[in-house]
Amino acid sequence: MMKSVPFTRSQIELLIKDHPTPFYIYDEIGIRKQTQRLIAAFAWNSGFKEYFAVKALPNPAILQILKDEGCGADCSSAPELMLAARAGVRGEDIMFTSNDTPEEEFIEARRLGAIINLDDIGHVDFLEKNAGMPELISLRLNPGPGRSGNAIIGDPEQSKFGMTRAQILEGYSRLKAKGVKRFGLHAMVVSSELGADYFIETARLLFELVREVHERVGIDIEFANLGGGLGIPYTPAQSALDLTAASEGIRKTYDECFGSGKLHRLKLFMECGRYVTGPFGYFVARVRHVKHTYKTYVGLDACMANLMRPGMYGAYHHITVLGKEHQPPSIKSDVVGSLCENNDKFAIDRALPAITPGDFVVIHDVGAYGHAMGFNFNGKLRSAEFLLHPDSSFTMIRRAETLEDHFATLKF
Ligand code: LLP
Repeated sequence: MMKSVPFTRSQIELLIKDHPTPFYIYDEIGIRKQTQRLIAAFAWNSGFKEYFAVKALPNPAILQILKDEGCGADCSSAPELMLAARAGVRGEDIMFTSNDTPEEEFIEARRLGAIINLDDIGHVDFLEKNAGMPELISLRLNPGPGRSGNAIIGDPEQSKFGMTRAQILEGYSRLKAKGVKRFGLHAMVVSSELGADYFIETARLLFELVREVHERVGIDIEFANLGGGLGIPYTPAQSALDLTAASEGIRKTYDECFGSGKLHRLKLFMECGRYVTGPFGYFVARVRHVKHTYKTYVGLDACMANLMRPGMYGAYHHITVLGKEHQPPSIKSDVVGSLCENNDKFAIDRALPAITPGDFVVIHDVGAYGHAMGFNFNGKLRSAEFLLHPDSSFTMIRRAETLEDHFATLKF
C-alpha cells in the first residue's frame, strides 16, 4: 500500500522556525482510529481490554489519549509505572509485566494497585516477602518446545521470559494455598507478526491451559492476556494483518474450549504496542550533505541514536522525501546518520528521488520503538516529539535534549 504523510512540507517549514529538525510527529487521529478498530474487533468478549505497551511509546500525552479510548497500560518497569500513573491510569487498568524484577518495582506496582504478572515461579515468594501478596495475580507462560517464536522475541526455548507449563500449574497451587483469590494467565511469544494464525494458536494454548488449571488446581482464571505482537506492514508491499480473521479465529477457539460453561466468562486482554502507535509515528529529518564515493550517501541531521531499528534489526522503514512524492525514485542511495558506526544507516540501496541538501526526509512507522530506544553515543542528543491534532495543529509533547541535559550527570 502507498504510504502517505499526514502533514505537508509547508507545515514543517513553519514548525522548524521554532523547533529545528530532527523530531518525531505522532498522528492523533491515526492512533485513535486504530485503537477503536482493535477494541471493536474483540467486542464479542465483554471483558476485552487493550493494555497499551508503554515501552513502545513512553509519553504520557499518548497514554492519556489511549486511556481516553478505553485502554489500560502495560508497564515493564517503575518509570513506566510512573508514566502510566501520571497519565491517570490506575489500579487494575495497569498490568505490570516485568522480568528480573527489583523489589522496589513490585512495591511500586502494589502501591498503584496494578495487576502483577509474574515472570518466574521464584517471584511468588519474592513478591510476598518484599511487597505483600495481592488478591489478584497473573502468571506468564513460556510454552517452550512445540511453539516457535519469531526473530524479535526469540524461540521460546531460548527465551528468558516466562515459566514452563509445569511451573504454571505449580505456581497456581502455591498461590491458592497462600490465599490468593483471583488469577490471570499471560503469554507473549511473538512481536511484529503479520499472520493471524499465530495469535489464534497462542489463544488456544492459553484457553486449554485455563481449562487444565480449572480441572487440576480447582481455580477459575479470570483473564487470559495474549500479549502484544500484532505486526504492521513496514514495506509498501506487505499486507496488513487481517484483524477480523484473528479475532474470529480466537472467538471460535474460545467457544470450542469453553462452550457455554462457567469458564465462558474468561476475559481477554492484549498488550499491543506496535500495532496501536507504530504506523502513526513519523521521524522528520533534514538532508545535510549528499556524498558520492562508491555509492551515494544521503546524510541527515539525525542518526541511529534517534532511531536504532534499522541499525539494530536491519528493519525496513519507508522513506518519503517531502514535496518529491511524485518524482521518480531514480537514485539508489544509502540514507545515513552522523555516528561513527557504519551501521548508522536508515536505509541501504533505497531507490529515492534526486535529493539535495535542505530536503526534508520523513521516516515512516516509527511510532513504536522509535524515540523510546534512543541513546546518546557520540554525545548525540535525543529529539523532540510532537503530537499532530485533528485540526492540523501541533503540540510539543517532549522537548529536545540539550547539552546541559547531556552533561548534567558528569562529576568533573
Ligand atoms: N507485552 C510484553 C510483555 C512485551 O515484552 C512487549 C514487547 C509487548 C507487550 C508489546 O509488543 P508489541 O505489540 O509492540 O509487539 N524493540 C523491538 C520490539 C521489542 C518488543 C519487546 N516486547 C522492535 O523495535 O521491534
